[in-house]
Amino acid sequence: MSTDQPSAGAAPPPDLRGRGRPDRMFTILGKLITILELIASGSYIRRRPPQQVDHDLILLVEEVRAEADGARSFRLVAASGAQLPRWQPGSHLQVLLPSGRRRHYSLCGDPADRSSYRIAVRRLEGGHGGSRELHDSIGKGSALAVRGPRNAFPFVGAASYLFIAGGIGITPILPMVKQAAADGAPWQLVYTGRSRASMPFLDELTELDHDRVRIRPYDRYGFPSGAELLACAPEGSTVYCCGPAPLIAGVRRDFAASAAVALHYERFTAAPIRDGVAFEVALQRSNRVLTVPADRSALEVIREALPDVAFSCQQGFCGTCRTRVLSGEVDHRDRVLLENERADTMTICVSRSRGGRITLDL
Ligand code: FES
Repeated sequence: MSTDQPSAGAAPPPDLRGRGRPDRMFTILGKLITILELIASGSYIRRRPPQQVDHDLILLVEEVRAEADGARSFRLVAASGAQLPRWQPGSHLQVLLPSGRRRHYSLCGDPADRSSYRIAVRRLEGGHGGSRELHDSIGKGSALAVRGPRNAFPFVGAASYLFIAGGIGITPILPMVKQAAADGAPWQLVYTGRSRASMPFLDELTELDHDRVRIRPYDRYGFPSGAELLACAPEGSTVYCCGPAPLIAGVRRDFAASAAVALHYERFTAAPIRDGVAFEVALQRSNRVLTVPADRSALEVIREALPDVAFSCQQGFCGTCRTRVLSGEVDHRDRVLLENERADTMTICVSRSRGGRITLDL
């Protein structure tokens, strides 16, 4: 999960109608004033941040449902029959697949239901194999080892909400929408995807409140700009967004000119590399030296030489790819390692070299 506030920068171009955009500084000041007014009026819903407690669980697949073209949901129950740990909207499970792959999937069921969890997975032909394994090898009665629930995309209080989801990115958003509806908070949802047939949970969402849900399949409306997605943001609202990288990039780019005051987003793919510089990585046990280009991660390059190297989130928050560093200076870009771990460990999915070769215990 990432949280964005508008930042100062070059003057933005005029909008699609050629109108100048509001001055950025005044926009930010206006949004701060709106937040303070909402807090003062008592209409800002406060919610406790979730406690992070990891549980190792063995779950059984109780039901598999086709939710859309290429997307299935899996309902999971405790093998012991016990109640499941509590979770909040935005939480995910780390699933250990029979192959040893670890993947994170957002919980998209009902947090009040302690008897089962629900995750939904789109089968990605060009992915790394985790979604194909779940679709092809996991069925009713299969056992899965999971860890969690953890919440890297917390749903915090706000006076009103705009939810934006792209495709399978609806999974963390769905329980948030239901929570906002249950709280009686004003909300809007803009839901995009390749086509209606490919978009899971359409019925569930439109049953919730038909008037607040805007369905925008690309095959009918084209790929939306951030400004189009943000156009119905209520004044002073908080935006929660999950979807493919271009959708998030558009929302981030156009957020400052919107009526919303806060943006939270979650990616389900690796973030683009910022300020990347090429470096060398030596794999001590494998006796290999590899070059990591400026625009690729060490994980990507190492996987070409060692296909079984463990990884999961590819965003520096799960710790699955942590690797012992034998020498070299690391530019740590993760959100998971403790300060005292950083002396000799790095997350190879996001962290890079400060300059010079890094030698890893691989
Ligand atoms: S894969 Fe999750 S921290 Fe690297």
